[in-house]
Amino acid sequence: AFHKHPRHIALSSDGLFPHWDKAKLQRGMQVYKEVCSACHSLNYVAFRDIAELGYTEGQVKSFAKSFQVPSINPDTGEPATRDGLPSDRFPAPYANEVAARAANNNALPPDLSLITKAREGGKDYLYSLLIGFENPPKNLPKELQPGTGLHYNPYFPNLNLAMAPPLADGQVTFADGSPNDVKAMASDVTAFLVWTAEPKLVKRVWTGWAVLLYLLIFTGLTYMAYRNIWANKE
Ligand code: HEM
Repeated sequence: AFHKHPRHIALSSDGLFPHWDKAKLQRGMQVYKEVCSACHSLNYVAFRDIAELGYTEGQVKSFAKSFQVPSINPDTGEPATRDGLPSDRFPAPYANEVAARAANNNALPPDLSLITKAREGGKDYLYSLLIGFENPPKNLPKELQPGTGLHYNPYFPNLNLAMAPPLADGQVTFADGSPNDVKAMASDVTAFLVWTAEPKLVKRVWTGWAVLLYLLIFTGLTYMAYRNIWANKE
């Protein structure tokens, strides 16, 4: 009864004629980096993949370099970190699950690469979750109230989650001067996480159109060939 159905978010990558809004994806990536990457990883996305969002090779390199990725000290064999390379994946901020849970009230921040595919409601759920934190309603039964370190969010399946509201108005400053209220940033990072979950989405749909067009022309040609072969053969 207290659980809410996700709100719809419209993106340029939706529907039968999709395209990527690269400026928006770049803003979403900035939100991811400046906010979400403090707790989450993108294990399936390599830094070099962001070239598709319109970055040059040099920009990809310096972006990768701004992350520390796990490595091994060659002299001691001890775990260490080094600057990221374009071939590395967006790293997890914690060394392992124990460290991740220790820092998050025993909850585990999930990898976000496929989150818009993995959760029921997809991108709508993600967007709603990000903008949906609120004070618990007055008539909320005691057993549903957020325990210590939990935060009420009517879009989360069991109403209370260990993630505090990650976004606050004005938190990220965009170079293009785009709006940076919670809704705008949530929308941008949602667009970005739709891309990470299926970077070939736009290509897939347009390949489908090319196939249909091909089949249509092919059907016309075979029909004309059929008419031609059977012409004057009564
Ligand atoms: C869970 C997204 C920032 C800590 C989640 C979930 C999503 C998400 C989609 C999964 C909810 C579910 O299981 O259905 C994001 C995004 C962020 C962000 C897009 C940036 C805008 C952060 C930050 C922290 C954090 C900064 C840590 C300070 C967590 C934790 C969970 C979680 C601990 C697990 C919650 C639980 O299972 O109770 N986040 N997050 N997140 N996030 Fe974030």
